[in-house]
Amino acid sequence: MVIEQNVSLQTFNTFGIQAKAKSYCNITNEATLTEILKNKDNQALFVLGGGSNMLLTKDIEALVLHINLKGIEVIKETEDSVLVKAMAGENWHQFVLWCLEHNFGGIENLSLIPGNVGTSPIQNIGAYGIELKDVFESCDAIKISNQEKKIFKIEDCKFGYRESVFKQELKDEYIITSVTFRLSKKNHRLHTNYGAIKEHLNTWGIKNPSIKDVSNAVIAIRQSKLPDPKDIGNSGSFFKNPVISISQFEQLQTNFPEAPFYKVSDTLVKVPAGWLIEQAGFKGKRFNNYGVHNKQALVLVNYGSAKGSDIYKLAKLIQNTVERLFSISIETEVNII
Ligand code: EPU
Repeated sequence: MVIEQNVSLQTFNTFGIQAKAKSYCNITNEATLTEILKNKDNQALFVLGGGSNMLLTKDIEALVLHINLKGIEVIKETEDSVLVKAMAGENWHQFVLWCLEHNFGGIENLSLIPGNVGTSPIQNIGAYGIELKDVFESCDAIKISNQEKKIFKIEDCKFGYRESVFKQELKDEYIITSVTFRLSKKNHRLHTNYGAIKEHLNTWGIKNPSIKDVSNAVIAIRQSKLPDPKDIGNSGSFFKNPVISISQFEQLQTNFPEAPFYKVSDTLVKVPAGWLIEQAGFKGKRFNNYGVHNKQALVLVNYGSAKGSDIYKLAKLIQNTVERLFSISIETEVNII
């Protein structure tokens, strides 16, 4: 086990923010992880996965545990379905591609989401009509305080919209080491209702799409409006879409009849934060080396060497402006460190 001092985290966060870890350990096996946790004494820890959902506004004065556990295996299968276990450090999109190669269906709509498998349950990643919870079987985790292993079943995780128990009552208590998914082997249930998926498949002349076709459509949509962190630093949606009452939404509609929404229940609707931010005039706004993406206002970007604290100030300005104009508060989806 090698513990390094003063390590740059710039390549380990998709925003590409320059910040340092006081100390850092690359974790490639569970034995090392357990050993570190056992001997940590009072040392502060910071658990790092794919670094795709955080904004670093300062150096991390802790021991950063970079979870790079690897491996994918089929643990059980029937004629129709399969349980696949992937270790926490597997790159999410590479895992999606592995499933497509094996013709395992269920996560094709989640193609190209940045980040790692191990962090996918924490915020119940979702896109184009599918959420992680729809394919989740269980996850293995280690309790930081006593190194006990625990298996979390779906009912233990309390999944919600970009939410789980790991962001709430069990925050910072467990390290997820692997996730097991229940996927289909045949008669895949495709989710192609999302308008742009249908449009892409039609344009390509595909009448009976395969899971690979759906994945290709999702990849094309994402590439058309979401910046690739390899080119422009970002963390995907910076804010969550706010959920408001129907009566508040009706008020909004009097001034903005074209306001988009998704119905959540008989009394609640979700309004796209990207739309609110665009109406507030921020879409495509650039401030020196950071700004708001020009094709999706929900995404804040680092054009190069921006400071996390500057991006955080912009996020606050956006939140305050949206609140002032629409009386709607938008919460960050990204963790501010
Ligand atoms: N919109 C605007 N202006 C914008 C952005 C969006 O008017 O700048 C409008 C669009 O025209 C559309 C509506 O808002 O009517 C919804 O836009 P979009 O389909 O792009 O989805 P979203 O609600 O903005 C959510 C997720 C994305 C996910 C997409 C597709 C959240 C916070 N974000 O975005 O997730 O890819 O749906 O399912 O729920 C992520 O979490 O990092 C992420 C990218």
